[in-house]
Amino acid sequence: MQNLLVTGGCGFIGANFIRLLFSNTDFDGRIVNVDKLTYAGNPENLTDIEDIYRDRYFFVMADICDPEAIADVFAKYKIDTVCNFAAESHVDRSIVEPDAFIKTNIHGTFILLETAREHRDQLILFHHVSTDEVYGSLGAEGYFTEDTPYKPNSPYSASKASSDHLVRAYSKTYGLPVTISNCSNNYGPYQFPEKLIPLMILNALEEKSLPVYGKGRNIRDWLYVTDHCKAVWRIMQSGRRGETYNIGGRCERANLDTVNMICDLLDDMQPRPDQRSRRELISFVKDRPGHDFRYAIDCSKLENELGWIPEESFESGLRKTIQWYLDNKEWVERVKSGDYLAWVKQHYEHI
Ligand code: NAD
Ligand code: TYD
Repeated sequence: MQNLLVTGGCGFIGANFIRLLFSNTDFDGRIVNVDKLTYAGNPENLTDIEDIYRDRYFFVMADICDPEAIADVFAKYKIDTVCNFAAESHVDRSIVEPDAFIKTNIHGTFILLETAREHRDQLILFHHVSTDEVYGSLGAEGYFTEDTPYKPNSPYSASKASSDHLVRAYSKTYGLPVTISNCSNNYGPYQFPEKLIPLMILNALEEKSLPVYGKGRNIRDWLYVTDHCKAVWRIMQSGRRGETYNIGGRCERANLDTVNMICDLLDDMQPRPDQRSRRELISFVKDRPGHDFRYAIDCSKLENELGWIPEESFESGLRKTIQWYLDNKEWVERVKSGDYLAWVKQHYEHI
């Protein structure tokens, strides 16, 4: 793997993945990051990487739905490996405006697969990054395994399910070398503050209310983003072609417990002037329609076959995450105000 196309590398997980590959693995090839820079994409996440690895890191602002742009990238950079992170990723947005989810997550993946098929001779691997939400919702018992039938409930998860099926079909029909990973909820640095954990951290710091959907009893299985990225890299290097691997943290928490924990850690790391608990900011709001009750991943296939285990505990990962948001207030300001688009224009005069 010498010429790696990473799509969506300016988003939360993609940026962490690129940072990991350059800083903490034996990867010695080139990375081409193709990102459309939607509201969730921020090239500022990789400025230091761009400076240090001038001859190994390349950013191309393009839409994965644009066949010509993607064909150009494959030809120009002799792409031999693809890791597809690019997606519309937020469930609440998919409920309000599903259109972009269908376009990017389904059609975009199709364009990438078609282009990879056209460049079959040079292709080593097409890795597709997906979510455990494709499996639907669990009751109080049981776990998602790789054999759990797909039962997506939101436009987001339905679009990701569809893209997974396309990737599988390209493996079965055309013999494309693929792997798929389905991961549980991630948290960590660079996450756009619309998702539960960064939203709660920033709202709490700004003394805003902390909106918990329903009664806060829905359960998510949390994984620190670097652990996810390490799992993806392990699968890309050693996973069996044509296979799916579940990735999870074995870290189930009810949402209310997660929000309480964030409040308590913040009170410890940066107490309010009046020393009162931030838990008093919690407010219970109307539930999300079609809200999946519980996700829980059985990742024993990944553990047993490839020897991966998560390194971060929920508390250590949350502390790191909170510290990162405390240390990066300018990033937060720019992302929340959308000012980074001005920053992009300044730094990328050529696009
Ligand atoms: P994100 O929303 O933070 O980032 C998505 C990135 O994709 C952004 O940089 C955006 O600009 C880019 N993008 C969107 N549409 C594009 C298009 N048409 N062409 C090119 N680039 C485009 O998302 P994330 O949380 O980093 O998730 C990355 C991947 O991981 C997604 O495929 C998501 O489904 C999957 N995933 C996420 C989680 C999670 O908890 N965040 C868990 C499991 C799987
Ligand atoms: P989210 O981060 O949107 O991830 P996903 O929906 O993909 O699991 O939400 C995580 C959980 O937190 C989910 O059960 C919905 C809930 N939630 C809230 O209670 N309040 C919020 O403001 C948000 C964004 C999410």
